[in-house]
Amino acid sequence: MDFAWLGSLFLALIISSLIYSTWNIMYGRRNLPPGPTPFPIVGNILQIKRGKLVKSLMKYREKYGSLYTIYFGHNPIIVLCGYETVKEALIDRAEEFGGRGRLPTLDSFVKGFGVVFGNGKRWMDLRRFSLTTLRNFGMGKKTIEERIQEEASFLVAEIRSQTEKSIDPSTLLMQCVSNIICSIVFGNRFEYDDESFQKLLTMLHVATKDMSSTWGQLQGMLPVVMNYVPGPHKRINAHLSRLSNFILERIKMNQETLDPNSPRDYIDCFLIKQQQEKDNPSFNMSNMTMTLLNLFVAGTDTVSTTLRHGCLIVLKYPEIQAKLREEIDCVLGENRSPTIEDRSKMPYMNAVLHEIQRFCDILPMNLPHLATKDINFRGYTIPKGTDIYPLLCSVHQDTKQFATPNKFNPNHFLDNNGCFKKNDAFMPFSAGKRMCLGEGLARMELFIFFTTILQNFKLTSQTQFTEKDIMPKMTGFGNVPISYRMSFIPRVL
Ligand code: HEM
Repeated sequence: MDFAWLGSLFLALIISSLIYSTWNIMYGRRNLPPGPTPFPIVGNILQIKRGKLVKSLMKYREKYGSLYTIYFGHNPIIVLCGYETVKEALIDRAEEFGGRGRLPTLDSFVKGFGVVFGNGKRWMDLRRFSLTTLRNFGMGKKTIEERIQEEASFLVAEIRSQTEKSIDPSTLLMQCVSNIICSIVFGNRFEYDDESFQKLLTMLHVATKDMSSTWGQLQGMLPVVMNYVPGPHKRINAHLSRLSNFILERIKMNQETLDPNSPRDYIDCFLIKQQQEKDNPSFNMSNMTMTLLNLFVAGTDTVSTTLRHGCLIVLKYPEIQAKLREEIDCVLGENRSPTIEDRSKMPYMNAVLHEIQRFCDILPMNLPHLATKDINFRGYTIPKGTDIYPLLCSVHQDTKQFATPNKFNPNHFLDNNGCFKKNDAFMPFSAGKRMCLGEGLARMELFIFFTTILQNFKLTSQTQFTEKDIMPKMTGFGNVPISYRMSFIPRVL
């Protein structure tokens, strides 16, 4: 007797019950906001266009509104869109929406350590300590302003010494910006031709590149499957390990020369805190290494990418560049370095910098948040531990808040008299409890570096950039500008 058909039937039954139970688990989570129907195992991944995650999420907004659910694998994610919804969640209900969500591309390396990916008491201790220490080292004060002015003058000298007429500004901008956070964290800046510095920044560059690749994106959405698939995403942990080895070496150097009465940098302060709070695991070695890595990465990549976008935009719009220069000449003249007090006297520069940050939207999906308890929100129930994506790009493109959201337009931040006009929907640093810890430092760097560059150089390029060229390009993690070459023509000889 042939029992083969019985075997096939049995197999079919097992497969269908597996599919059914997965489907059931997905829909068992009742009263979540609506969203596209997920498939078993992969969720909505197949409905997302390859490499176009942000665009796909913005498209779903048109269908499901400002609050919807999407599945990465079997993991539901609540997507928040538009100024009103993001504000209500992150500001009005800051406590409930203030956890840090999963970022599978990094989770196996980070393991929840450090200020950026920490939660609960660990995060609170590290955030409070980091803010106090950064302030003690001058964040938001005169001391750090002077450090940035000095670095800006090194940058000007370096650009003047370049013999090549047309350069890609990425490396220089990354170096000058990174030197600011390095001064605070490691207690010293690096020369631009220092090999160890160049190596460090290359490591950071390749790590972000691999994270942003399509493979990296897939790893973010389907971590369990992608763990078994070869590809560049497999190198991410190795790059990050190399970066953290550099940091461990610096910690060791500080340990050997520490004078508890005279802390030289953030590392010294952490070592002193560790001795004072021996039993507090928030200040153990893993949290120290990861927090240092967080500050180094966040303090380098974000501001330099914004400046790269900024230079490209003024290359595209020479009339904006000319107007900025006019204001600089009027307020600062040729030689005086900009100070942060000048910002209020330079409304056009202030508006252009705000518009650069809005338009370029370097972290369009924000960092993931997490529900810290069961949340009742707009008639739905979001269970504790659910990942939440507050889309900053949807705030920056909110037509109720900005007249021409898809165009670069400094008038978004100027009133009819040419005075600077605030807009609450300006959220590149996010909002609420997890808001960027380095906002003060970043805004000071952007103003002083950008103003100093335009005070000293006319920016030109042989390429005629189009509106499409200046549109931010979404990689897996953040928006970056196209790569381009340009010339810095000295204004004062
Ligand atoms: C243009 C520059 C920058 C932008 C646009 C930016 C943006 C952001 C955003 C969107 C977040 C996530 C906020 C959230 O989860 O709601 C964040 C977090 C963070 N940023 Fe920045 N950032 C910038 C510069 C910096 C700098 C210079 C530092 C270094 C001091 C820094 C350190 C951090 C840290 C430590 C966090 C984690 C905060 C937490 O989880 O509590 N950022 N940033």
